[in-house]
Amino acid sequence: MPRLFALIPAAGSGVRMGGDLPKQYLPLAGKPLLYHALSCLCRHPEIERVFVVLAPGDPYFSNYEWQLLAARTTPLYCGGETRAASVFNGLLAARDEIAAADWVLVHDAVRPCLAPAALARLIDTVRDEETGGLLALPVVDTLKRGDADAYVVQTEAREHLWQAQTPQMFRYRLLLEALRVIDPVLATDEARAIEQLGLRPKLVIGDNRNFKVTYPHDLALAELILKSMQ
Ligand code: CTP
Ligand code: MG
Repeated sequence: MPRLFALIPAAGSGVRMGGDLPKQYLPLAGKPLLYHALSCLCRHPEIERVFVVLAPGDPYFSNYEWQLLAARTTPLYCGGETRAASVFNGLLAARDEIAAADWVLVHDAVRPCLAPAALARLIDTVRDEETGGLLALPVVDTLKRGDADAYVVQTEAREHLWQAQTPQMFRYRLLLEALRVIDPVLATDEARAIEQLGLRPKLVIGDNRNFKVTYPHDLALAELILKSMQ
């Protein structure tokens, strides 16, 4: 039976959030943002270990009390210039612990509101798939293409369009090799690298609470959602 692992890229600097502290460490409901992402993955009974990819020399991680999560967490100080490089470096650094056919769930450090049900849905659906898959949401809004001055050029069809979320779940060796050959700037998610190989990841219905904290005003919303989930 292939085993399950998780990897959290947490080596970004949060330019859109601003401020000195990288956003994965900003306080949310009394804990750093990263704690909440880590906690949901660590609580899943089948995820054996969660690798957290930090920027080389990250001075923050070791200052926090990770409590019960620490036993199942391995920090790796090997983040890269891009998210894809951080994931690739983390996969390489974990190579002695993960077998080629094991599953790896890659989850953003800054999606603190991943519901256990969405995580379970992803795992249950994708473990029967050949290629792997990701949480995603069908687009519900009407889509406008704008020009450089923000005037509507046209309305785009939204049928079959999905917004990608994380976790994204792929087999270790396939993901490593896909990331090895893709331009890391193009690969803003793992699925993009897999698609480049001509493969087709499965889209699994996500959850709009599982949004990515990007701008300062996102923090208050994330805190409200977290409270409603407890
Ligand atoms: N990430 C990473 N290594 C990088 C860039 C991003 O591990 N070189 C991680 C972030 O820490 C985050 C996830 O990838 O957990 C999603 O990235 P994003 O939301 O874009 O975070 P930042 O890159 O930190 O933010 P920004 O793009 O605003 O600078
Ligand atoms: Mg970024």
